[in-house]
Amino acid sequence: MAVLPIITLPDPVLKQKAKRVKTIDGSIQKLIANMLETVRADPGRAALAAPQVGTSLRVIVIDIPEAENIVLINPEIVKRSGERLVTEGCLSVPGYYGEIKRSEQVTVKGRDASGKEIRIKAEELLAQALEHEIDHLNGVLYIDHLESQDQLHKVEDEAPQL
Ligand code: NI
Repeated sequence: MAVLPIITLPDPVLKQKAKRVKTIDGSIQKLIANMLETVRADPGRAALAAPQVGTSLRVIVIDIPEAENIVLINPEIVKRSGERLVTEGCLSVPGYYGEIKRSEQVTVKGRDASGKEIRIKAEELLAQALEHEIDHLNGVLYIDHLESQDQLHKVEDEAPQL
């Protein structure tokens, strides 16, 4: 296992739509293990999408106190409800945070590391992290959701780094 370097803007991989995982083989297991190690390498890291480590595949990991070691392969949001204003940052956009709108509740389906189909109903930070990471798989960053540049602030460590 290895802690992988995190890709930051303006690397084009962050703007690409990531490909679906067809087979959960050894290379995917290795990617997942390395992503989990990378997200745990710094307490400020809450979640990671595979494009952020340079692999354009639909894999995300989340590691927050209320949801440790979540692995989702080919995740899809099947339901979202409500709207709330959140403060958010991204490991791939270092040194900034912003205020954007996210859903209050989301339901996500996908597969876990063993290939088993799972469904997660989430709110609060977990819902935010799921929306943020699934956005990454579609080449979307939180800064794409800013309604105005006034909502972007140049301060570090003020927001969850997803
Ligand atoms: Ni991010």
